[in-house]
Amino acid sequence: MIDEMTTVLEPRPLSDFVETKYVKDITNRAISYIKAGFPVHLRGPSGTGKTTLAMHLASKIERPVVMIHGDEEFSTSDLVGGEHGYRIRKVVDRFISRVLKTEEDMVKRWVDNRLTVACKYGFTLVYDEFTRSRPEANNILLSILQEKMMDLPVGRGGEEPYLKVDPDFTAIFTSNPEEYAGVHRSQDALRDRMITMDLDHFDYDTELAITLAKAKLSKQDSQIIANIVRGLRESGKCEFAPTVRGCIMIAKTLKAQNLTPSKSSSRFMQMCQDILASETSRVGSKTNQDRVKEIVRELVAKELGIGKTIDVGKKAAESATAVETVDSRKEEKESESLAGVSS
Ligand SMILES: Nc1ncnc2c1ncn2[C@@H]1O[C@H](COP(=O)(O)OP(=O)(O)OP(=O)(O)O)[C@@H](O)[C@H]1O
Ligand SMILES: [Mg+2]
Repeated sequence: MIDEMTTVLEPRPLSDFVETKYVKDITNRAISYIKAGFPVHLRGPSGTGKTTLAMHLASKIERPVVMIHGDEEFSTSDLVGGEHGYRIRKVVDRFISRVLKTEEDMVKRWVDNRLTVACKYGFTLVYDEFTRSRPEANNILLSILQEKMMDLPVGRGGEEPYLKVDPDFTAIFTSNPEEYAGVHRSQDALRDRMITMDLDHFDYDTELAITLAKAKLSKQDSQIIANIVRGLRESGKCEFAPTVRGCIMIAKTLKAQNLTPSKSSSRFMQMCQDILASETSRVGSKTNQDRVKEIVRELVAKELGIGKTIDVGKKAAESATAVETVDSRKEEKESESLAGVSS
């Protein structure tokens, strides 16, 4: 008995998906490899748009999508399928009204998992962060990608021991670089069967366009945010480089609070420091957090044109005071004019 309980996704383009020249270029290259019959592997640091791009590519292929997220605990049967419990059949005989006779029998139940379903029906497989699964769990992919045959475990019963992979089957992989925590080295044999495209952080236009699309702030405010995040990234002083997620978080928080960087500079400063220090440092790494906060303080001051560029590390405390002073003067002015309006 073979059952399928796989969630199949219908790929639809994201409403706020941004297609700049940079994104179009990667998309076109990837699609050309897929059309030539090769699996594509998007590899890059966190926040470089791998998962989003993989789903975008899948939507271009216009076949149903099955998605798998790599997991340390995965075994081959999590990908292929296995015997998951029993099917119980119960016969209730009430021929004589006061006598109840029941009969039960149990049949082992094989359930095809996502990979089998994708191979069988020619769906698009998006295997996100596949190097988080142990290499031996992924071995099943070797023959799928090369010989277009899938070995089926004995327990599946019924049909042939092999499944012929449907010609419409396509695979898109993503992974983080090997130095990331919880990532396994991908087998050379598997890497050799796919075309790897290395992604880096977005170019300026794309990072700005994503920030704009996600929070719908003004272009000028989105630029300020993108400049700060990129400035911190380029400083090279972070444990982890800040990503476009930092831009999105700052922009969305501003939007939700109905604030703008220039009108509420001290709150904006605090927000940037909180978000960017947490994004770029390991939990508990206070020294790094403090260093990042100082750099952010300088970048924010520069973007908002408040105070001079301060020598990071030396005059950080002074800069904070300078910003606060400018800010509080501004806020005083604002409240004065508001008082004027109401009286
Ligand atoms: N082309 C795009 N248009 C709109 N938003 C995008 C685009 N590319 C990426 N994003 C946004 O940028 C953020 C990071 O993208 P994504 O999650 O795809 O990165 P990732 O490389 O998969 O990161 P991780 O390695 O941490 O999983 C997400 O919030 C995503 O919505
Ligand atoms: Mg991802």
